[in-house]
Amino acid sequence: MALSLVIQMRDPVTGLTLRLYYGVFEKEDVITRSAEILNETAGTVQLHKALSACLDIPFGDWELIHFPGRHCMERQAERRKLMDGIQKISSRRGSSSHQHNPFAILALPETSEDYGECLGAMLVYSGSFQIEIEKTQMRAVRMVLGIQEEQFLWKLERGESFVMPEVLLSYSGRGLTGLSHNYADFIREHICRGKYKKARRPILINNWEATYFDFTAEKLLDIAEKAGELGIEMLVLDDGWFGRRDCETDGLGDWYVNEEKLGGNLNSLIEKINKMGMKFGIWVEPEMVNEDSDLYKAHPDWALSVPGREPVMGRCQLALDMGRQEVQDYLYEALRTLLSEHPIDYIKWDMNRNLSDIYSRVLAPERQGEAGHRYILGVYALLERLTEAFPDVLFEGCSGGGGRFDCGMLCYSPQIWCSDDTDAIARLKIQYGTSFGYPVSAMGAHVSACPNHQTGRSTPLRTRGVVAMSGTFGCELDLALLDEAERQEIAEQIDQFKAYYPLIQWGDYYRLTDAIADTYFTAWQFASKDGAEALLNVVVVSPQANPTPIHVRLKGLREEAVYLEKTEGKYYSGAALMYGGFTLPILKGDYPAVQYYFVKEGSE
Ligand code: GLA
Repeated sequence: MALSLVIQMRDPVTGLTLRLYYGVFEKEDVITRSAEILNETAGTVQLHKALSACLDIPFGDWELIHFPGRHCMERQAERRKLMDGIQKISSRRGSSSHQHNPFAILALPETSEDYGECLGAMLVYSGSFQIEIEKTQMRAVRMVLGIQEEQFLWKLERGESFVMPEVLLSYSGRGLTGLSHNYADFIREHICRGKYKKARRPILINNWEATYFDFTAEKLLDIAEKAGELGIEMLVLDDGWFGRRDCETDGLGDWYVNEEKLGGNLNSLIEKINKMGMKFGIWVEPEMVNEDSDLYKAHPDWALSVPGREPVMGRCQLALDMGRQEVQDYLYEALRTLLSEHPIDYIKWDMNRNLSDIYSRVLAPERQGEAGHRYILGVYALLERLTEAFPDVLFEGCSGGGGRFDCGMLCYSPQIWCSDDTDAIARLKIQYGTSFGYPVSAMGAHVSACPNHQTGRSTPLRTRGVVAMSGTFGCELDLALLDEAERQEIAEQIDQFKAYYPLIQWGDYYRLTDAIADTYFTAWQFASKDGAEALLNVVVVSPQANPTPIHVRLKGLREEAVYLEKTEGKYYSGAALMYGGFTLPILKGDYPAVQYYFVKEGSE
């Protein structure tokens, strides 16, 4: 339940009306805010900026926490002092981007995970955005955020209105952890929708890092069979199943099955997979087109490009003009056919390039500043139609990994592939940064092969399992290359993940170390909301000789309760674990990881 407030204002000079919409979500301690401009004047108005909220704080030496990064290195949390003047976090890439996240926190210097004041502002938006934070001459701080103003210009005809993206505002007087819990609870409850908002999602194996484009039906069936034996519940067929798609240069746009490559039709493959007791999911990248595709040959003008200029390619592809109704209709029809003619349980919705040449062939020259925002509205409109028509299909967002990890996409896909970097040690930082604003249930994370394909690093299988469990947990490797003991270990991880699922996905997440600054080990923990159980996770990132003990203090437990730690079978009081702490045995070797599960007496 939310309380809504609408404030309507009229500017007597221009005659424009502004409506401010507030939603008060008391339980999660979040206030939503958006704004609408109505043109009830006699003429046309041009909007040069479309910003959603402005927050003025007249006191405090605030610091900024934000989440910069790059492909394979998303959301690397950074905390810094505010400088005099305006500092801007933004994306001009047409999507929220790998480089910045549409989320920022202001924290007082003394604010830590557990104490102190902080406030967050997060855009429910997947396009180019900006967050400006100004420290003024009078020591006040102003934060203004909304759609990126560069390249934006919207013509508002008489009688029309324009709605700015919504912002989620939250405050915590109990440190950063409290703020993260507000956002995690809010997103799980009010942003994620559909069947899989609460239902347990299937544990999947994805063939991408196992085969890349080079697969056959036999290989896929082999992966599925071995995966099913371990308790994996779904095979996801990634890129390369459609059109003439055998490499990056061809086929995007042609969403029909390449039966030659699959040695038969898709239904017979799915039937065989279903017979193994596995569900079936598939990869698509609907917003994109390769020049070498039937779609591009038929409709070259559907791609974003500037007349007379050679368009800039990204991963050998162009972006479609998603603001155009006929493009949305074509894609809806193609995906509706795919989903209704085949028993598909899951869609991985990818988007693998930044937008450039943002010029729409159907907009007048003076309306080209609308093309970027119309693109995102078009993506949402298409996803809205598809998720309504296929409510049982689980959607997972993706954009070269985590390049569009935001609440706009989470409205349609309750999980998003967190990063193309599947290295467990790199993931510690990526998932740590992501956890400031987003729930673990949204973070796509898989166990992959070693040496890792992105970093070349080798980590123990256990460590890869522990890290992937702090996400949606899945696998992305060729199981045929593992030995029996390794396969058995994955089966055990799957059993464990299933057992811990409610605690991990719906419990509270606690960062026990700073994954960026603390170089010795990274620790984090889950506690159920009622404090009945907790799961402690520790990974040694840089082992020491003659090591100092790894000692952590748990959080979210009940002081007066007694807990049984299951691995060693010892009892501790909640107060002892939270205020005294828990000392781990010495951990040696390359990147060892441990998990400890605590259960309150009486709740076993
Ligand atoms: C992107 C995704 C990967 C994979 C490839 C396929 O990079 O992030 O997981 O799906 O595309 O081309």
